[in-house]
Amino acid sequence: MIYLDNAATSLLKPACVSEAVIKAMSSLGNAGRGVHEASLTAARTVFDARLNLAAFFGAESPQQIVFTANATEGLNIAIKGLLSPGDHVVTTMLEHNSVLRPLYEMQERGVLLDFAPCGPLGTVDYEAMEELISDHTRAVVCTHASNLTGNPVDLARISQMAKAHGSLLIVDASQTAGIFPIDVQALGIDVLCFTGHKSLLGPQGTGGMYVREGLKVRPLLSGGSGIQSDSKKHPEEMPTALEAGTLNGHGIAGLNAAIGYINRCGTDAIRQKALHLMRRFCDGVKDIPGIRIYGDFSSEERCPIVALNLKDFDSSQISDELYMTYGISTRPGAHCAPLMHEVLGTKKQGAVRFSFSHLNTEEEIDDAVKALYMIEADFR
Ligand code: ALA
Repeated sequence: MIYLDNAATSLLKPACVSEAVIKAMSSLGNAGRGVHEASLTAARTVFDARLNLAAFFGAESPQQIVFTANATEGLNIAIKGLLSPGDHVVTTMLEHNSVLRPLYEMQERGVLLDFAPCGPLGTVDYEAMEELISDHTRAVVCTHASNLTGNPVDLARISQMAKAHGSLLIVDASQTAGIFPIDVQALGIDVLCFTGHKSLLGPQGTGGMYVREGLKVRPLLSGGSGIQSDSKKHPEEMPTALEAGTLNGHGIAGLNAAIGYINRCGTDAIRQKALHLMRRFCDGVKDIPGIRIYGDFSSEERCPIVALNLKDFDSSQISDELYMTYGISTRPGAHCAPLMHEVLGTKKQGAVRFSFSHLNTEEEIDDAVKALYMIEADFR
């Protein structure tokens, strides 16, 4: 199988990740629930992962890193825990449902929502966005990059606009954490939500959020915390304030190993390798009759994602053929980003998304290019 669905989840992981999970499964107790060796080992593992993630994202301290099951959970905590009825929010057309659905839920509770428009290539219209942000805007909520096109947004520019009006900046880094350098303090990010299983190369069921020091977020959950057991209230200290119940220690051990691997390789080197493969793919397929590639490829920096369609063939049929005949895994159809499909005019057809990892090879890319040529000829 040739795995080109890395934007959905990275299947190709460094061996140290599974080794760390397997070791954790036979050695971790419950973090913060005792002083025996297994419990302490779990607590140390979790703390070490917090330390490494804090350094990775430039956080003030490990206390500002909260573990969640995925980016969606972090986004729900941030959106529901920071917004109140009457608040104004600006977001973009690039968003995934993990941002849109919590925002729509808050809209039903009285939050006022505006969408920054997009150009035909799926890039944010920053001038129009700036006009929407005012001193009454409580938060700008945006993805760092579209999961459909791979187009990144200019976070520094958006942050400047948000800060000029005293607005919070909440960022969905699902597609960029691990391959783009992200310095939350330098970028003025108030909350960054990330998943562990995509470019961070960790296990599924891991993820988290950075919350700026001093920012109080209403928790979604309360429950066991291992501390202040006599209190009727969930502790307010970070990070416990936003974590309830037993953490995914086994997964966190794997994520911690993955961060170590990324630090050893370097995010820039990882991104450049994946982008090299993406460009090789684009060069290979660009002359296939009737091919349409979506997104903005004018900038050097983007996510290693190519969404495309062949003529008016159903994207699911193409993706099925890629897998059934050529053993190539891609994602077809709608990509949980309905507004982006609207902008690209692909609501009905969907799109076949190829997403690359630095662990893919040039041979795999060339096979994928050949397969698309053959499919075009067969479907003609
Ligand atoms: N959000 C993931 C994707 O883009 C699952 O495929």
